[in-house]
Amino acid sequence: MFISVVQFEPKFGEIEANYSKILNTISDDKSDIIVFPELCLTGYDFVSRDEAKKFASEVNDLIFIELKNIAIVKKKIIVIGFPEISDDKLYNSAAILLPNPQLNNVYRKTHLFFRERFIFDEGDKGFFVIESIEPEIKIGTMICYDWRFPEASRTLALNGADLIVCPSNLVTNVWHIATPARALENKVYLAVANRIGIENRNGQELLFNGSSQIYSYNGSVLAKALSDSVEVISAEIDPIKTRNKSFNEFNDIFADRRSQYYS
Ligand code: ACM
Repeated sequence: MFISVVQFEPKFGEIEANYSKILNTISDDKSDIIVFPELCLTGYDFVSRDEAKKFASEVNDLIFIELKNIAIVKKKIIVIGFPEISDDKLYNSAAILLPNPQLNNVYRKTHLFFRERFIFDEGDKGFFVIESIEPEIKIGTMICYDWRFPEASRTLALNGADLIVCPSNLVTNVWHIATPARALENKVYLAVANRIGIENRNGQELLFNGSSQIYSYNGSVLAKALSDSVEVISAEIDPIKTRNKSFNEFNDIFADRRSQYYS
């Protein structure tokens, strides 16, 4: 099966324009799974929680009903970052829309980065894995800054993920050191969908530096975008290959764990 990662420049506050780009990209894409960046419906740098609330959606809003229908018709898994309102809570979330009648799933970012802590509530769902029957794959989700916590990808792998998707709005390059290791040490595929462009809000300029990547389960790069261009990168993946955690005849990264020594 094939996975695509979309790198583009969401315009702050322009939900209709961003959504239209998202729909066009899905329509042109031929892969089984398509992953969009963090908060790509709205843009990233909200000045306040009240402002973010104005742009937030519920996971069963019209946009997600429409995306779910597209997932079903195109037999495609769609992952997309958005600000989620749920009762009085506001989360930095990613919807995972499967091509079957199952309800929409939503992951809520666990580790909040920098000023996000003044805008969003901390995610309350933990690291869970979703099983898709067709295409047959188990997907775990983390969002951006979650990458800094190896516990996140380890938990997803221990919960059975074949593929970890990571919608992102990354503003540094240090993640390039860590993300291939997360794939290698867990023997999972990993897809980072980063955005590009500049947001000038809150008296600060944020430059998002693209370089979205898809890694194989041995940490090698299957596809990589440039740092500043609109791109859709794609790679072929075989989820079955991630399920046997051995890497030679005597070692298996899960069976060899000695969890009594970890804290
Ligand atoms: C980030 O978590 N958006 C860096």
